[in-house]
Amino acid sequence: MAASAGFFREQQELVCDGVPLSAIAAEAGTPLYVYSAAAIRARVRALDAAFGGYPHAIHYALKANSTLAVARLVRESGCAADANSIWEIDVARKAGFAPADIVFTGVGKTAAELECAIALGADGVKAINIESGGELARVEAIAARLGRVARVAVRLNPDIDARSHPHISTGLRVNKFGVPLDEAAVIFRSLPSRRSVRLVAVHVHVGSQITSIEPLERAAALVASIAAELSAAGVALDYVDLGGGLGISYDGGDVPSPGDYVGALVAAIRGTGLPIVVEPGRSIAGPAGVLLARVIDLKPRDASSDFAVVDAGMTELLRPALYAAFHRIELVRERPGTRRRYEIVGPVCESSDVLGRDRELTALEVGDLVAIRDAGAYGSAMASNYNRRPLPAEVLVDEGKWRVIRRRQTVDDMIAMES
Ligand code: LLP
Repeated sequence: MAASAGFFREQQELVCDGVPLSAIAAEAGTPLYVYSAAAIRARVRALDAAFGGYPHAIHYALKANSTLAVARLVRESGCAADANSIWEIDVARKAGFAPADIVFTGVGKTAAELECAIALGADGVKAINIESGGELARVEAIAARLGRVARVAVRLNPDIDARSHPHISTGLRVNKFGVPLDEAAVIFRSLPSRRSVRLVAVHVHVGSQITSIEPLERAAALVASIAAELSAAGVALDYVDLGGGLGISYDGGDVPSPGDYVGALVAAIRGTGLPIVVEPGRSIAGPAGVLLARVIDLKPRDASSDFAVVDAGMTELLRPALYAAFHRIELVRERPGTRRRYEIVGPVCESSDVLGRDRELTALEVGDLVAIRDAGAYGSAMASNYNRRPLPAEVLVDEGKWRVIRRRQTVDDMIAMES
C-alpha cells in the first residue's frame, strides 16, 4: 500500500488511489459513495500491527458500513465481525464470516434473533453480548430447548462518560445500553447454576467518535478488574471485549493514533493475560469513503453567503442533520477563483437538511462536483428513502480500478415491495 492510500489531490483533482473522482462520477452518477480498498486495508493493518504480539481479534462493527463488498474486504483483511441484528449476521455470513468469528451485540434482540444466533452453524456465534438479566434468561431457555450451550458475554454499563455527542454516548447509567455493575455482579453469581450458557467474556462499549483515550482506558481498567475478580472466583474468561469507539479526525484536529489507543488497552488488560477483542467501525471505514454530489442550484442566502443546493442530502448522509456532525466538503476539481461562503444543503424538504454550514469554497457553479469527506462509516449505512429518494450507488476503488458494488436503487426497486 502506498503511504497515500485513500483520497488525496493530484494537481488540482481529488483522486481515490490515483483514480480521478470526476471520472468515476461522470460514469456512475451522483449522489455516489466511493470507497478506497487500500485505505480500508491500511487502517485494518495499522490497528492490527499496534497490538504487536498481544493476542487480539478485530471484530469490525458492521453497522458502520455493511455493504457486501466492504464486509468481504474487511474479512479478507483479517477482521472478524460485530453484528447488531440478525440481518447483519446474514450479511456477515454472505460476506464469508464464520459463525465463530461473529459477536452479536444489540439492545433488544428478539427471541427469533437469539435463536438464529444460538443455532447458527455447528456451534452458534462466538458470543452473544448480553444486555440484561432478562435477555440472559431468554438465551438460556432457547439454548436449553435447542440442546446447545450458548456462549455469552455480559455487556457492562460502566457509568463512564465518553464525552462524545450525547446521541452516540452509550456508557452512562442513564443510557439504555448494557448491564449496570450491581446487576452484573448478580448475574455473575448466578452463573454456576446455569447449564445452557457459558460466560466467555466481559464486554464494554462506552460510545463512538471518542477522541480522548481516557474514557476508553477507564472502561478497559474496569473490565480488567472484573475479569480478575471472576478469575479469583473460578470463572475463566476466554477474552475481554472492549467495544469500538475510537474517533477519527473529521476536521483535521488531533485524534489518538492506533498505537496510543491499543497501547492504553493492552496496558490495562495485560495483567489478566486475556486476549483483547475490539469492535471498531468508524476508524476502519470512515476516512476510507467520500460522498460525491453535484451542485444543482445556487442562490443568495444573506449578505455574506449563498446556498449551494447539491444532489445529496440527509437521505444519503444523515450525520450532519442528526448530530450536527462536521464533514469537510471540497470541490473535487479545484480551480483558481474567488472564495465564497456557502450553506451546503440537500434537496430534502427539511430545514435540517444541511450538509455543511458556513463553508468557504472556490466560487461554485451549477454542475460542480463536491466531495463530502470521511463518509465511509455511518453514511450509506444510515441512508433512507425519505422523499422517495433512491439509495445511492456505491463504488469501490481497488488497485487503480473501480467498480460499482451497489447499483443505484430505482423507484421500481422500491415499489416492488408494495401493493
Ligand atoms: N460496538 C458496539 C457495541 C457499538 O454499539 C458500536 C457503535 C461499535 C462497536 C462501533 O463503534 P465505532 O468504532 O464505529 O465508534 N451513527 C453514529 C454512530 C453510532 C455508533 C453506534 N455503535 C454516527 O454516525 O456517528
